Amino acid sequence: MRRIAFLLVAVATLASVIAYMVPASGQEAQNSAPVYVTKIPSGYRDWRLISVAHEEGNLHSFAAVLGNDVAIKAYREQKLPFPDGAIIAALHYSHIPSEENNKVFGREQSFVPGPPTNIQFMVKDSKKYAATGGWGFGHFNTDGKAGDEALLKTCSPCHAKASRDFVFTRYAP
Ligand code: HEC
Repeated sequence: MRRIAFLLVAVATLASVIAYMVPASGQEAQNSAPVYVTKIPSGYRDWRLISVAHEEGNLHSFAAVLGNDVAIKAYREQKLPFPDGAIIAALHYSHIPSEENNKVFGREQSFVPGPPTNIQFMVKDSKKYAATGGWGFGHFNTDGKAGDEALLKTCSPCHAKASRDFVFTRYAP
């Protein structure tokens, strides 16, 4: 009889523990839903240069990678992970030959940025963007419109493969 009572208490305790856990983990899932950057950070065009990148494949693009003061300081001090407030921008342009420049060189050797294609941002806020490694990802077309969710979902899984806190670009001295 005593054993049964003990068993009942144990079962009741377990049930209440489970009942407590279910809403808690449900809430966690809600908190960790990915959030994206929906507004272009102001002043980005005056930020300092981290490095440049040139992509071929289907893109034929140049990127200027810029950082705000918090990002530049962290890069220079080689501080990882990047602190909250760091923002990195990748300004993308098409990659085109320059006829004007090639004329003075007398041969095909100069390539310059053509029209801009898009701007991408990574904004560090370890709480707000906890679900995506503490980085908020943003993509804006030349008309200022944000990229759709299907596109934004692809950012963090690929950036998670970078060896330094989701960031691929190294500081160019
Ligand atoms: C398939 C992998 C991949 C995907 C998907 C991807 N990126 Fe990147 N990203 C890179 C690589 C690699 C670089 C390094 C520079 C380069 O090669 O262009 C980079 C560079 C960047 C940078 C400069 C900082 C850094 O990490 O080097 C930003 C900002 C950025 N990406 C934002 C985004 C955003 C926003 C998205 C989603 C819309 C995105 N990326 C999707 C691979 C990816």
